[in-house]
Amino acid sequence: MSILVTGGAGFIGSHTVVELLNAGYDVVVVDNLCNSSEKSLERVKEITGKEAKFYQVDILDREGLEEVFAKETIDCCIHFAGLKAVGESVQKPWEYYNNNITGTLVLVDVMRKHGVKNIVFSSSATVYGTPKTVPLTEDCPKGEATNPYGWTKSMLEQILTDIQKADPAWNVILLRYFNPIGAHKSGKIGENPNGIPNNLMPYITQVAVGKLKCLGVFGNDYPTHDGTGVRDYIHVVDLAEGHVKAVQKMAENPGLKIYNLGTGIGYSVLDIVKNFEEATGVEIPYEIKERRAGDVAVNYADATKAREELGWAAKNGIKEMCEDSWRWQSQNPNGFEA
Ligand code: NAD
Ligand code: UD1
Repeated sequence: MSILVTGGAGFIGSHTVVELLNAGYDVVVVDNLCNSSEKSLERVKEITGKEAKFYQVDILDREGLEEVFAKETIDCCIHFAGLKAVGESVQKPWEYYNNNITGTLVLVDVMRKHGVKNIVFSSSATVYGTPKTVPLTEDCPKGEATNPYGWTKSMLEQILTDIQKADPAWNVILLRYFNPIGAHKSGKIGENPNGIPNNLMPYITQVAVGKLKCLGVFGNDYPTHDGTGVRDYIHVVDLAEGHVKAVQKMAENPGLKIYNLGTGIGYSVLDIVKNFEEATGVEIPYEIKERRAGDVAVNYADATKAREELGWAAKNGIKEMCEDSWRWQSQNPNGFEA
């Protein structure tokens, strides 16, 4: 069985390609490398001893995609390709809507023309907006996104839902990720943000490696056990395994399915700092800053549905997440650049 992975050179994509190759799937990667390096796929080969076919193609490029579908036999697509920087999306809404939404519309059109109607889509816990209650189940109502990036995820969920409703031959699995961190145990692949990281764990690891001086903790007056924001951090390899389970689920012709991929455990920012220090022995200086606009106080998953229907559950705890993030960063202080 052959899986097309769009955005397969990126952080979650490259880890998913490893798990797919290890599970015996043939993998075709399409990525325009706008936020990644082809080196990640060389590292995937070092890890697995197997190779994914790579096409440097933009999903907005219909002809380029057509060529890939003409050359390759594809059974299912895991669709990661998209822009994901929340702050940048506020500055460049057109670019985000065009890349994420138009790109997906082109991809889905090319898929159906080639008779490929199985898609796993990277959604986000951001679609829940400000949670009324936690843990969040898939039945919780979607909320207002606070930025264009979040709206692209929410709108694409709706678009794919409507496409499946109109043509039940489609199987659509929407995976709502909570906060992916960690890296492959080998330390060969990991998260490689451009510029100053927006997300917590890459910021911490860059402080630890000496590239940044001090972590800013965004707010300590939230209604949480220590006042700092609580999130459901999930190891990226567990997340990747969730995609393999979703692909296996396609064999049942599931129609439309939505699953949270999280651990069900919430950690505050200061819990993460403490766990990182304990796991690595490296001290993380921090200072309390103003709250960041658009942040919610608490967000964590009820992951029961994925366990019951996909047979999936996260295996790695916070210690492994911190150790593995640090192994990747300390072995590759400049990411994939030598
Ligand atoms: P990433 O930036 O590392 O990976 C995305 C990949 O898509 C990159 O390799 C990029 O080059 C590629 N890409 C972007 N636009 C493209 C286009 N038009 N054509 C071809 N390739 C294109 O990000 P990631 O963290 O691996 O995220 C993967 C997916 O998961 C994204 O859709 C993201 O929005 C979603 N997601 C991520 C998180 C997170 O915290 N990392 C959380 C929820 C959802
Ligand atoms: C953010 C996005 C979300 C996106 C996800 C992955 C927002 C509002 N949400 O989630 O849409 O899917 O990233 O890209 O931006 N923190 C600090 N200092 C830092 C960085 C973060 O204190 O330097 C805190 C945040 O306030 C938050 C927690 O750490 O409480 C996690 O932040 P982050 O890693 O950015 O993820 P989210 O905000 O949950």
